[in-house]
Amino acid sequence: MSSILEIHGVRERFPGISDDEAYLDSASTTQKPQAVIDRLTWAYTEGCANIHRGVHRRSRLATDAVEEARRRVAHFLGVPSPTEIVWVRGATEGLNLLAHGLGHLRLQPGDEVLITEMEHHANIVPWQLACERHGAALQAIAIHPDGTLDLKDAASKITPKTRVVALTHASNSLGTINPVETIAAMAKRVDAVCVVDGTQMVVHNPVDIPALGVDAYVFSGHKLYGPSGIGAVWCRESLLRAMPPYQGGGDMILDVQIQGSTWNDPPHKFEAGTPHIAGAVGLGAAIQFMNSIGWEAIQEHERAILAYAEQCLSSIAGLQIIGTAADKVPVISFVLDGVHAHDVGTLLDDRQVAIRTGHHCTQPIMDKFEVPATGRASFGVYSTRAEVDRLADALRHVQSVFSL
Ligand code: ALA
Repeated sequence: MSSILEIHGVRERFPGISDDEAYLDSASTTQKPQAVIDRLTWAYTEGCANIHRGVHRRSRLATDAVEEARRRVAHFLGVPSPTEIVWVRGATEGLNLLAHGLGHLRLQPGDEVLITEMEHHANIVPWQLACERHGAALQAIAIHPDGTLDLKDAASKITPKTRVVALTHASNSLGTINPVETIAAMAKRVDAVCVVDGTQMVVHNPVDIPALGVDAYVFSGHKLYGPSGIGAVWCRESLLRAMPPYQGGGDMILDVQIQGSTWNDPPHKFEAGTPHIAGAVGLGAAIQFMNSIGWEAIQEHERAILAYAEQCLSSIAGLQIIGTAADKVPVISFVLDGVHAHDVGTLLDDRQVAIRTGHHCTQPIMDKFEVPATGRASFGVYSTRAEVDRLADALRHVQSVFSL
């Protein structure tokens, strides 16, 4: 049985993919379509110039390309104003920027920041640093054994002390899709700002930020079929105006004197120095690529692949899936009885099956599930059932090596 994407040959649009290998590590980074690679080449050849600085033709060309990509990101997230989109290196830098700015703006001794137990380290450590700087405390919403958020715990921990609630839209380790709208509404009732890490969500499902009711949203380009080293922050203009700059340098100022400076308008206020121009242009191309396939086809294909993979892996005795929420992105974490995840990963690699193993930058989840590490298979638009079969066969081979 083939799904619509396999029929329409999406896989052939990725020159890095080969049928000799099962690449099942898209949650770490996706492979790149030719359209993105071509756009990067353009940005380093005909379009190569610095932006916002030159009056010459090439500089105008590069500036237009970057600003067009910014408009694409805004449209992709359903927000009307591209000036609320800030270029960053990736979600990690975006979350650091927000923790820095919102820390200054919102946190005082006695205040609380609320995250969840399923956050990536990038949505934990910046808040730890902000809490330390401003004398605030960090709390976390608990998760249930199936990997869903405990909403009763959320309701009890969102109090008038809570100034910021920061959560992932979809977990990189468990795949769980969180009810962001519900949490954002709870945060709003106590006047807390709601920040969302959308990195694992935007590649699999459409996101309509106004409908979510959140205040800031970040994602990385490299997990969205785009280049590495580029990502975007969407943040309400009122907050962007009120937050202090994150970094100082060129482009983020209006006027500089030896004794002081004034700031450019957002988003430039948060874009010190020459940005990753090719990255931004390439990210715009990645979004165009996604649009060319369409959400209906992407979701149909990925849901089918996830269901098929869950069925295949569940049939392997001694394999336990960690994270069994009903609403998931196509990510499956698992442990194999009697074999460390790193050994699983190494033996799978011998059979040209690439998965990620380890704590996936989510140590609190590993602690919660009392495992040192998991294996994680993750899927994208180019994934096939044949790759899932190859994974299942290779896992049975691992069991035979360990005589299980
Ligand atoms: N955060 C990336 C992952 O989940 C690297 O694998």
